[in-house]
Amino acid sequence: MSDPQASKQILTTRQGHPVHNNQQQRTVGSRGPATLENYHFLEKISHFDRERIPERVVHARGFVAHGEFEAYGTIGDQPASTYTRAKLFQTKGKKTPVTIRFSTVIGGRDSSEAARDPRGFAVKFRTEDGNWDMVGNNLQVFFIRDAIKFPDVIHSLKPDPVTFRQEPNRIFDFMSNTPESMHMLTWLFSPYGIPKNYRTMRGSGVNTYRLVNAAGEGVLVKFHWLSQQGEHNLTQAEADAIQATDLGHASKDIYEAIERGDHPKWELNVQVMSDDEHPELDFDPLDDTKIWPEEDFPYLPVGMMTLNRNITDHHNENEQIAFGTGVLVDGIDFSDDKMLVGRTFSYSDTQRYRVGPNYLQLPINRPREDVQVSTNQGGGQMSYGVDNRGANPHINFEPSSVAGLQEADESYREYRPFVSGQIMKAPIERQNNYSQAGRRYREMDDWERDDLILNLTTLLSQCDKHIQEKMVWHFSQCDSDYGRRVAEGLGIAVDA
Ligand code: HEM
Repeated sequence: MSDPQASKQILTTRQGHPVHNNQQQRTVGSRGPATLENYHFLEKISHFDRERIPERVVHARGFVAHGEFEAYGTIGDQPASTYTRAKLFQTKGKKTPVTIRFSTVIGGRDSSEAARDPRGFAVKFRTEDGNWDMVGNNLQVFFIRDAIKFPDVIHSLKPDPVTFRQEPNRIFDFMSNTPESMHMLTWLFSPYGIPKNYRTMRGSGVNTYRLVNAAGEGVLVKFHWLSQQGEHNLTQAEADAIQATDLGHASKDIYEAIERGDHPKWELNVQVMSDDEHPELDFDPLDDTKIWPEEDFPYLPVGMMTLNRNITDHHNENEQIAFGTGVLVDGIDFSDDKMLVGRTFSYSDTQRYRVGPNYLQLPINRPREDVQVSTNQGGGQMSYGVDNRGANPHINFEPSSVAGLQEADESYREYRPFVSGQIMKAPIERQNNYSQAGRRYREMDDWERDDLILNLTTLLSQCDKHIQEKMVWHFSQCDSDYGRRVAEGLGIAVDA
């Protein structure tokens, strides 16, 4: 039998010095005291003291895997170029490497993966034009439609700042004052609020983006990932049984599937709409609390993603990976969705704090090797290289008559939407907070509706009476049967 010790490498310090004794500190005699020039010990313990970076303020627990996206070359029955000039979509069979991070939102880094919570679905496409991040969730809508409310909705869902316990009263206090959350709550408290695992859930970009073609014409777009493993969810009772013994069942499930070669797949679909306000609709296409009805805006297949490789280090590839909604490639653009605009500042801002100002130099975040990164930005903590400045490294400014970097040609000109109007702080006009929640309620299977009512009343029964009453009123606006059943579950009398 071969000696397993024979292939072991020699332990060294981080300076490359071989370590002869890793069991004891340097001491005077065998009983101490210890000495200050204990370089190996001090380096080892002080690095350990710094092993953690701040966890993400949301989506702290996640699972990362690598894979590829294969384009169909078409979007529905049209060549992809009809809608977008983004290179990754143009040719049938074209493969683009991807890295994906699934996550839960509210719990900390070691929290349960069976929690009732939206699931993050963030995909980094490593394209020839640089990275494109699609930072989505499993549910298709969100609690709020303006980024200024994000700290508030998250505070209400996070633990109480005094008891450090997630408190239903705080959650429903906020939601009862936020009518646009009713659609999201109707999804979240149904079985869709606890996906069975990461393989059997869908993904959605949630916010509205734009696709731009070579002629500079834009359409509004929503992105969807359809699981080829089917969609399966858990009831609260099933989730409770899992989290009683395992807080990481979803990571275990997908890690093991990838290891055994059972590679999960998702098909990317888009919905498109002409780029205008669409006054004929009873909702605003830029409102992320709304679904674009499939019967009016059909799903158009774009390509298939396959995950085929697990990571080799959790910290480097999971803790330090950084996704952001501003990370777009030519041919995919922002819309005026007020959430999207706010998110786009927030992600890179938090990553400069959480990972460090040079987080884009890390291998997990930087563009793939054949993409040249050429900027005049340099310095900062933990910088280990300078971006390619061309032949003359002295010129770290632009423009220069001597050398340095130059701007890209006209084909990269950004989409130029026309905007005019009064600057103000005001809600959107077509709020329509209840009708899609009511439709969703009516379209559920009976058992899903029963589960929704049970889950809502279980938490609402722990809330103050005035909050219960407000929530019942909102649910009644969605659908009278919805309000009636929640009221009944809470023992509240409602007018016939
Ligand atoms: C993570 C902000 C809405 C999906 C994060 C993080 C922040 C943040 C600060 C932590 C990022 C990090 O530390 O790397 C916001 C703000 C929002 C918003 C300000 C609203 C204005 C949304 C919505 C979605 C979403 C609507 C779904 C489409 C995600 C995902 C992650 C995340 C998937 C985890 C990314 C990862 O796996 O690293 N968000 N978010 N967020 N957010 Fe949002």
